[in-house]
Amino acid sequence: MTKTLFTNIGSLVLPAAEVGVLETLSNAAFMVEDGLVIWVGQADSAPRCDSVVDVAGACVIPGFVDSHAHLMFAGSREQEFEARMAGVSYSAGGIKTTVAKTRAATDEELRANAQDLISEFYQSGVTHFEIKSGYGLDIETEVRSLKIAREFTEDTTFLGAHVVPADQDPEAYVELVTTTMLDAAAPYAKWIDVFCDRGAFTLAQTRKILEAGIAKGLLPRLHANQIENLGAIALAVELDCASVDHCTHLSEQEIELLAGSNTVATLLPGAEFSTRSPYPDAKKLFAAGITVALATDCNPGSSFTTSMPFCIAVAVRDMGFTVDQAVWSATRGGALALRDSSRGTLAVGSSADFAILDAPNHLFLAYRPGVQLVASTYVAGKKVYGR
Ligand code: NIG
Ligand code: FE
Repeated sequence: MTKTLFTNIGSLVLPAAEVGVLETLSNAAFMVEDGLVIWVGQADSAPRCDSVVDVAGACVIPGFVDSHAHLMFAGSREQEFEARMAGVSYSAGGIKTTVAKTRAATDEELRANAQDLISEFYQSGVTHFEIKSGYGLDIETEVRSLKIAREFTEDTTFLGAHVVPADQDPEAYVELVTTTMLDAAAPYAKWIDVFCDRGAFTLAQTRKILEAGIAKGLLPRLHANQIENLGAIALAVELDCASVDHCTHLSEQEIELLAGSNTVATLLPGAEFSTRSPYPDAKKLFAAGITVALATDCNPGSSFTTSMPFCIAVAVRDMGFTVDQAVWSATRGGALALRDSSRGTLAVGSSADFAILDAPNHLFLAYRPGVQLVASTYVAGKKVYGR
């Protein structure tokens, strides 16, 4: 096995176990063998290796882990965005436009679209990501979405309950999602998700769908409290959801509930940005001791971005994150939202997933918004992007 030393790191960012805390090591190095980090320390005390990559004083961060991404779709909805910027408010109904285009797309088209977005992820320093279905809303398209998603990640999520498709009775659709569609989707999915919100699914429907998924061996996660608070946080905690995502509207009691739970609160700055909605206050969540993740929510309706640095910049500028908290949430937080302790850090034993920044430290990620600071990205020790 080849041992490769990445050395002359000006600032090596190591997310700590404590929520929101980053440790940084200067004059650092780490060694990779067989896709894993096998040593981390001071550059001048590195053990023997077979090859060396000198990063010339750059900052190295663990790859971002995007725990919330809708990559299986076709088409785009820029006119909806334009209308929102002119004052129209966001509604879940727009999802149906994408459903029609997704159903009409071939597997090859869906695969190519996802592949393009994944290339963008690598360019933005994202090294691991979840992929949701949810723009098929019929058995055939949900299943082929998940099959294709599986080609790219082990973290595939069945989101048949994204909205009720046009012209279908809500209760009949919930019945389909919890029986035949679930049976067909489950072999290709690890997670089950529901959009519990105004215009999507009620709390009672959400419980039924998550419980059916859990009974089938899927692990629960949830979209909730984006547009309105339907009371889904208590359900998410009761069912031990790995994560509850959006959390734009949270009561004090719900903050306490999350703090006492194993459920991560995943914030999606791209969604508030692109729907011109008020941002949630991350300060309150950190103060309560909640584990917070940041994700892109990449989708063609409410957040068409693959840029985690953009999300970090917005989180810091408008959501009350410190830069350290934002970087922690986009790395370790994302991994925990996927219940994956092997990622989101560069500790010995973790996957050698990282980004080399064209910057002296991680503060630049928020300080230089919109600038391409990721110089190269590695997944399991192999370069997947470089300029
Ligand atoms: O996470 N909130 C639900 N789903 C997406 C929006 C999907 C769409 O508008 O196409 C989201 O924001
Ligand atoms: Fe989403």
